[in-house]
Amino acid sequence: MAGDEGQGVRVEDEDGIRILEIDRPPVNALGHGLRAALAAAVAAAAASPGVRALVIAAAGRSFPAGADIREFGRPPQPPLLTEVLCAIESFPRPVVAALHGTALGGGLELALAAHYRVALATTRLGFPEVTLGILPGAGGTQRTPRITGAAAALRLMRTGQPVGAAEAEALGLLDLVVPAPGPGESPTAAARRAGTAFARGILAEGLGPRPTRERREGFADPAAYAEAVRAARADPPPAHLPAAGRITDCVEAALLLPFEAGLALERAGSEDLVATEAAQGLRHAFLSERRAAHVPGIEGVAPRTLEVLGVVGGGLMGAGIAAALLSAGLGVVLLERDGEALDRGLARVAEIKERAVARGRLTEAARAAEWSRLIGTTDMEALAGVDLAIEAVFEDFDLKARVFRDLDRIMRPGAVIATNTSYLDVDALAAATGRPADILGLHFFSPAHVMRLLEVVVGRATAPAVAATGFALARRLGKVAVRAGVTDGFIGNRILATWRTAMDFLVEDGASPYAVDAALRDFGFSLGPYAVADLAGLEIAWARRQRLASARDPSHRTVAIADRLCERGWFGQKTGRGWYRHDQGRRGAEDPEVLALIAEERARKGILPRAVDPAEIVARALAAMVNEGARILAEGIALRPSDIDVVMVHGYGYPRWRGGPMRTADHGGLLALRRNLLAWAADEPELWTPAPLILDLVKNGRDFASLDAG
Ligand code: CAA
Ligand code: NAI
Repeated sequence: MAGDEGQGVRVEDEDGIRILEIDRPPVNALGHGLRAALAAAVAAAAASPGVRALVIAAAGRSFPAGADIREFGRPPQPPLLTEVLCAIESFPRPVVAALHGTALGGGLELALAAHYRVALATTRLGFPEVTLGILPGAGGTQRTPRITGAAAALRLMRTGQPVGAAEAEALGLLDLVVPAPGPGESPTAAARRAGTAFARGILAEGLGPRPTRERREGFADPAAYAEAVRAARADPPPAHLPAAGRITDCVEAALLLPFEAGLALERAGSEDLVATEAAQGLRHAFLSERRAAHVPGIEGVAPRTLEVLGVVGGGLMGAGIAAALLSAGLGVVLLERDGEALDRGLARVAEIKERAVARGRLTEAARAAEWSRLIGTTDMEALAGVDLAIEAVFEDFDLKARVFRDLDRIMRPGAVIATNTSYLDVDALAAATGRPADILGLHFFSPAHVMRLLEVVVGRATAPAVAATGFALARRLGKVAVRAGVTDGFIGNRILATWRTAMDFLVEDGASPYAVDAALRDFGFSLGPYAVADLAGLEIAWARRQRLASARDPSHRTVAIADRLCERGWFGQKTGRGWYRHDQGRRGAEDPEVLALIAEERARKGILPRAVDPAEIVARALAAMVNEGARILAEGIALRPSDIDVVMVHGYGYPRWRGGPMRTADHGGLLALRRNLLAWAADEPELWTPAPLILDLVKNGRDFASLDAG
């Protein structure tokens, strides 16, 4: 990165031990400036006869958390990390790595190039590269199995899951684990102290360098090694995610090839993988998630304190939200309209927790502790003392406005009131209270205790501290927050509404809803839009269609199939029937009665069904999403294209490895998108007329990514 030339490594000497302290906030990512500084510092130490041992430690929150992801996909700038690490490994005196925080990816590879490793007990170690579509490209695939054998190395690298220090020690990756420091000492200082003491011990014992490339413990049982490789091959990842397969090849090569040849194979794999669509998409997803947390106007603004939260409505969403809040250590007051509804709400929360216990994700003791933080009530006065209340009652404006007025009256000044509405006007709800600055939308996704997305809907009057509180809550819940402006459906549901309209047109024209879901699943969606509708409940979108009916241009095409389902009381999973049948034991069975109903609708409108192939389904779905996304951007509802991608990946099951719809549009080229839109707009202009932003981008030879920086 520009500006970090030669910076980032502090050098100190202590009794013949040279300490190199890496210092590149926030996470000591090994960008090229840091690599250069490290290489220079190692060369200088090698040339200093007074240096009897080297300790590599890191300042701040962590030992390096990896290579600098922002550099991927650009021409590599020397020195390559693998070269720097080889220089460290061949250092003529002992090298000790002192770890704390998260030693990930290139950071763990750096540690493995040292001769000895010491870590605080709280350190997490791992190879998350596979989650970025790549492999550990700085010797990790060759050095790790020399210590751990193939099975553990493959598990670490193919799953990307980090391990704690104790497990890493048991695998042989660490030589010493020391307790985390008390409040009097920083983890940085403690790790450094432990590393220096370890180096002193080595010198006292007269031990020399111990290059990992020369170790063989992991090769002790070649048959077990080969079996682990075979087992990995027998469990291949999907074809569009080739990284795990290349990792397996490299680990196999570690045993069979000389070290340098293994490194060359790893290098080739790394170069191939970094250019794949999956690696580009996964990288985009990673960086987009972080970018979304940066919201102009609220950065640096202190959020309000959150300890006890109210949840109004213990239905599908309210119960999931309450469960998520409890998991994050917060107190919860759950309000329902009457005793029976409250019992049902509490039973929903209990069921979520029961499943977590059954799956081993929650201990009995932790469940009991969580339950003791939950109060159920039918008396709104019980919300008087909460810090923030999240309203999740039926999707009905008048009802919500009444709830808001009551909350405003009861809650203490400074407390925040949030709505989980799917579509309704947050500004109008705010206007129903005397504290519009304290109002925002917190749009969770179903199931709320599982889905990682939270749209933080910032209204006209929302105070920056209140918006910051929404982001702080998301972080506390382990969710990814995206700022959205007020519009019908915010970012995600507005795009969903357009996308669903496009799919409904196709269904009326001849596709079956099951074919639409299948085509989008094949594209990579976890669920198709009709299965999602059944999961979320068809009545919410129905209410929206009724609300908007009077304002609709009668010349615009409308598809009434979903209304026909709702008129029968088929609201999806919660009623046993929707687009699919959920009442016959099997999950989501296709329903001939739904197909008959669709046929009736076609006949009523005189539509002769045509064949629709999966490629058209995918192309129209994408174009609808991106066109609406472009309108949302132009209106300032979303801050940047990558925020839309985060919403679609985390809220709607868009395949993460494709990055998001805006990124897919960039990848396919906006010119092709424009061509499709113009062709389809000839028949259905209200849906397909290209957003002016797309035309502008094409005219100026730009893409959506060029708008992400802002
Ligand atoms: N490169 C560049 N920037 C990085 C980074 C990386 N590897 N890891 C984190 N960052 C940045 C984030 O973008 C964010 O930046 P801003 O403050 O500007 O938004 C900042 O560091 C903090 O990150 P988080 O918000 O994610 O902080 P956290 O405390 O929630 O998590 C973390 C910290 C666990 C390290 C997490 O950031 C993470 O998982 N990072 C990625 C780790 C990774 O994948 N490493 C492997 C890289 S690939 C590699 O190393 C290949 C190789 O073999 C050479
Ligand atoms: P639901 O029908 O399952 O639950 C609503 C609950 O609110 C019911 O338990 C009801 O008894 C309770 N309630 C009604 N009036 C009340 C009052 N005055 N005081 C206290 N409780 C009251 O509905 P669901 O699906 O949980 O939706 C709730 C809200 O969340 C809606 O605004 C919806 O649009 C939104 N939402 C729904 C999503 C979904 O996938 N279902 C996703 C995101 C948001």
